Amino acid sequence: MKDKWDSRTSFILASIGSAIGLGNIWRFPYVCYENGGGAFLIPYLVALLTTGIPLMILEFSLGHKYYKPAPAALGHVKKGFEVLGWFALLIGFGIVAYYAVVMSWCFNYLGYSFNLAWGQDTQAFFFNQFLQISESPLQLGGIQWTIVLGLVVTWVCVIAAIWKGPKTVGKVVYFTVIIPWIILIVLVVRGVTLPGAIEGLKFYLTPRFGALLDYKVWLAAYSQVFFSLTIGFGVQITYASFLKKESDVVNNAFLVSFANNATSFVGGLAVFATLGYYAHQSGLPVSEVVKAGPQLAFVTYPTIISMLPVAASVFGILFFLMLLMLGIDSAFSLVEAGAASIIDKFKIKRIHANIGFGVIALVVGLIFTTKAGLYWLDIVDYFMNNYGLLVVGILQCFAVAYFYTHKDVDVQRHFDSGDKSIFSIPTKVVELRQYANSKSDFTIGRWWDFSVKYLTPIVVGVLFITNIYNRFMTSYGGYGRLAEFLGGWLVIIVFIVVAIILYRSKRRE
Ligand code: PFF
Repeated sequence: MKDKWDSRTSFILASIGSAIGLGNIWRFPYVCYENGGGAFLIPYLVALLTTGIPLMILEFSLGHKYYKPAPAALGHVKKGFEVLGWFALLIGFGIVAYYAVVMSWCFNYLGYSFNLAWGQDTQAFFFNQFLQISESPLQLGGIQWTIVLGLVVTWVCVIAAIWKGPKTVGKVVYFTVIIPWIILIVLVVRGVTLPGAIEGLKFYLTPRFGALLDYKVWLAAYSQVFFSLTIGFGVQITYASFLKKESDVVNNAFLVSFANNATSFVGGLAVFATLGYYAHQSGLPVSEVVKAGPQLAFVTYPTIISMLPVAASVFGILFFLMLLMLGIDSAFSLVEAGAASIIDKFKIKRIHANIGFGVIALVVGLIFTTKAGLYWLDIVDYFMNNYGLLVVGILQCFAVAYFYTHKDVDVQRHFDSGDKSIFSIPTKVVELRQYANSKSDFTIGRWWDFSVKYLTPIVVGVLFITNIYNRFMTSYGGYGRLAEFLGGWLVIIVFIVVAIILYRSKRRE
């Protein structure tokens, strides 16, 4: 029997769970800070409304219409696009391989929270003691066993949570979505009631409009929208394929997007209010205490936790528990999507698909547990997000807008209906919109066609090409060309080859 959600709520929670993750609490606030503070919310909202939500509707509609996971659903659009579905899943695989390592750090830090083991110098603790970071990406310097241990625990939890597919997931997500929200509210209340909080919030929300002229700010906004909504991973297509035929599409897409962005925004409030307190206590301006990337959750936050006047350990435990719960349903959504796609094509047993996926991702992830792991994590993160996800997004639009040759398109009927405006030239995008509308409580208009046919491919395409050009001028992050090639371009090339192999493999009936 085909896998199904047991209720609409299970689907919505699972999809929200996939979207809300470490990205909302750990990535969004610093990306926002680095890209113009409050002004970043403008490109972010533009990216969300003009591309994020339209693509979410597109992915939900594809999965729902064809009842198939990403590769097979895209293969229904036009046969060769099955490759794109596999490629999307592989990009997700690259992301989840390091994402699980960040979750392993969270597991370790959850343990350290009990006695605030990070001590006074949290920076030295994180880099020198915990990661034992090496000088450069090419000096691997051996594996960090505490991180490997955390990684094994992470993968065991992830696989257990999806043991029986949508049936198990549908139950687990009630906990992994609702509990972190409760913790987040506790952290916001704690944050805004600390002295100095206002300064932190002002810093978060005061726009620096000059930033809007920089293409990098727009690129950051688009890739954060993709990462955050989990679009371009093949996940939302697959999750929507588990829906019952009569379920809604458009409403669900808006709901998931709204819940995800509310979480990012509120996550930012919690983080920046607390940073304001840190600045207040240490007598430094807020701009001095904000650190990018992993440092925020694993250096700055532990410092603040230790400073708290009461129940410091409790807040440490809550914080890392929240990150873990946020992360797990994002991680397992990708495994579930990968496993469903493999099962659909190769008809292997679910247990084998799940465990096989977990073991491969764990082994690949070992590179991130070495002493050079943080460097590799940074390079892979950059390439998967800025090249992988964006390309999948553009090509999905192309597939639907220009190559959609499904037989049930009736061009004549469309014209006969008197619908002759320029945006409804009968490429098959119109058909997919009509399908989505026929299932939904509230309907979408031609703005959606416009986004899928022109706006998204052009805007994302221009950002992508500008970025590629810049990459040829300078290597990413100053790690050197060799590391950039191995962690970036080579990974992408390997994924393309594997996607083609999977596409060409014979389908088992
Ligand atoms: N949407 C997730 C987040 O914002 O954290 C990103 C994600 C990572 C989704 C890894 C899926 C995944 F496997």
